[in-house]
Amino acid sequence: MQEVEHTKTLNPQIKDAAVKYVKQMFSLASDSDLIRLLKKEAFKHIYKKMVVEPDEFMVKPRPADIESWNGKKPQDPRDFLKSKVVLPSLPQVLLEIQKVINDPHSSANDLADVLNKDPKLVAAILRLANSAMYSFRTEVDTTSRAVALLGFKQASSLALGTVSLSLFKRSEGTSVLQVEKFWKHSIACGVIAQEIARAAGYEDVERFFVGGMLHDIGLYVVFESDKSLALELYERSSKEGNSLYDAEVELLGFDHAILGGVIIKDWNFPKSLVIAAAGHHNPEKARNDPDAGIIHIADFMSQALGYDLGLSSVIGVIDDETVEKIGISTEQYAAILPGIQSVIDDIFEILNPT
Ligand SMILES: [Fe+2]
Repeated sequence: MQEVEHTKTLNPQIKDAAVKYVKQMFSLASDSDLIRLLKKEAFKHIYKKMVVEPDEFMVKPRPADIESWNGKKPQDPRDFLKSKVVLPSLPQVLLEIQKVINDPHSSANDLADVLNKDPKLVAAILRLANSAMYSFRTEVDTTSRAVALLGFKQASSLALGTVSLSLFKRSEGTSVLQVEKFWKHSIACGVIAQEIARAAGYEDVERFFVGGMLHDIGLYVVFESDKSLALELYERSSKEGNSLYDAEVELLGFDHAILGGVIIKDWNFPKSLVIAAAGHHNPEKARNDPDAGIIHIADFMSQALGYDLGLSSVIGVIDDETVEKIGISTEQYAAILPGIQSVIDDIFEILNPT
């Protein structure tokens, strides 16, 4: 990034293109200290990307094997889920984790016993517990030690998020949504949300990490259930300078956040995760809960920092009242930025979607 810091050495043509692109990214966001901070960060990574991966900015050719969308609007999210979607069924281990969470008599040992039934989950939890996200002094080498160090609540919600996200993998055939980008965006949103929550003085910050990890599962379901619709959404949002959210509301009559909330509710997940997903594009509707608001800000920040879904160049709106309500300063936001990239990369590598 060194070359980006010294503006004199920048290539003027690429610089102009990057400035224009950043302007487009933030075209729906109002001006504020936080937005100015994020614009600066966005410029750095967009300039670098334009130098290193210029193809990323080309309009992609229309995939020949995806038919045109039939234009049929579903009545509501439930109608969409009924007619289109084959949702992955919840694996046994997830049901058992939920049972342990919901039973007030459960102990840390009960949770460790359930986790131990799934070796892949054990490996992920141990690697997460030893990752840069936590700074435990000793190596965490058993599930019961991980549960003891993380605490019952944190360990169970981490397991819940890890197993749920693992249900969303690359599908057969051509996809409009790149699953790696979806995962990186989800993890980045979780990491940033957790840091915002910590700075805002919330305890139990793990739930914001999981809220971020799962906030866009409705988007995955829309894009993977109906690839013709996905292509139409992508084309509308990429060509017309709309946010993806606007394109969804126009074509479906609802957005992926509401759909995600319905799915997470049907799964009987904790209410905070339902609110985080359902409200992340309309946090003003869930003002009494910090979950939707923090995920809303983290979602915006993750896209500004380059962890976007690769679907629309416009990030969308950020609700200024929500930023005010969460109440942390621009300096506190700035302090979050330097450390997060390595944490996001670490977690992505641990939970690897492929
Ligand atoms: Fe979203």
